[in-house]
Amino acid sequence: MRKSFLDTEEIHELPPRFHQRMVEWQKKHFPEMDFLVDHWSRHYRHEPFRLIAKFGALKSPVIEVGALAGRPKLARTTDLEDEMVLQSAKIIKAQCSTELGSIQQHRGSLNKAQDPEQQFDILRVMAEEFRHAYQMMFVLANDDWTRVGKDIASETMDELLSMETGAHVLDAFNLFFDSFVDNAAFTAIIDRVGKYQLEMQTVFSYAPMARSMGPMLAEEAFHMATGVNTLRKWCYAASRGEGNVSISNIQKHINKWVPRGLEMFGDERGGKSAVQFGFKDLLNGEAMRRYYDELKVELIDTLNWEILRARHPEIGRPDAPIIADRVLATGESEKDVAVDDLLYLPSEKFYRRRGLYEFQMWDPRGVPMRDKREYLAVLRVRLPDSYVSGPDFKTYLEHLDQKLAGRDVKEEGLPFYG
Ligand SMILES: [Fe+2]
Ligand SMILES: [Fe+2]
Repeated sequence: MRKSFLDTEEIHELPPRFHQRMVEWQKKHFPEMDFLVDHWSRHYRHEPFRLIAKFGALKSPVIEVGALAGRPKLARTTDLEDEMVLQSAKIIKAQCSTELGSIQQHRGSLNKAQDPEQQFDILRVMAEEFRHAYQMMFVLANDDWTRVGKDIASETMDELLSMETGAHVLDAFNLFFDSFVDNAAFTAIIDRVGKYQLEMQTVFSYAPMARSMGPMLAEEAFHMATGVNTLRKWCYAASRGEGNVSISNIQKHINKWVPRGLEMFGDERGGKSAVQFGFKDLLNGEAMRRYYDELKVELIDTLNWEILRARHPEIGRPDAPIIADRVLATGESEKDVAVDDLLYLPSEKFYRRRGLYEFQMWDPRGVPMRDKREYLAVLRVRLPDSYVSGPDFKTYLEHLDQKLAGRDVKEEGLPFYG
């Protein structure tokens, strides 16, 4: 039997005028991609990088969740209600913005890498993010969105291709990278949010979005591994008194990125309309909770294992978190590993500016703080120096003051599914 359009795996190129504009952006903002393409086969056996849109097969021919559950997936925008068209366009645009934003961020500290392999892996991450942006542009360019704009693909291109760091839709993509520690922490922490969003969106009721997720998820796994493996090497070396990245430096970067990662899920209490539209299968709070739990296991426990086994090779993966958590809870050293030698996951209440805990004062271990001066002193030592002296921290302090004075604060940018 012949497969229908929705079942087939396909690759596509944007129409020439759009393809050309994407390539022009790449030449200007990401010229290193040409080096990656030229040297790909020296580093990977994986098939060479190509700038194309990839569509996988649908997981389910019918809509899985929400008000339209049980009906066939919607192949064209003409099958969608007005509000669904509007919200889908917003999600696609936000997604595209994050992809382009992260390339600009990575590039800010790409030349600060000490290891050429780690640097090349980040180049691959950047190229794949560029392909994701291309994919989202294709979804827009390949359908009729006249109900939300005359020519949404061109408008989105005009808007997104001219954005610089600081003007992107999502907060996490407006933070500058100050050293290569940011490249590693970002891929380990923020790309993991990407994985969650993409996994949730495999149910997307608008079929071209659902079908975009599988190929993107396959690439996302490499992004997270790039970050975690780099951090693992640094932790192992630091624990032996070697290498150039200290445990406390890594902890400060974890503290910088985890709060922004949590906020990318949107308000803890929200997400109902996206589920109703069949765009995703989890409410914000539930997705955030699972993400947070995964960070503890996949990031913190893994890194603490590296720290412990660097000194005691006999300690296995199952025992490592038990020992690490006991040291962190009691404050007493074990096997000559002290609290400050280990990493912890900052409290989900720490350094938040959106959602349930916005502008509340908590220290990274989840202890409430009453005095603003003491709180600021904690932030200054628990976040990276280069971040504290930068523009985003200044904005946070201004907004905190406004909030403490009882005024409403307008945070620029939006989380997903605002
Ligand atoms: Fe991506
Ligand atoms: Fe990614």
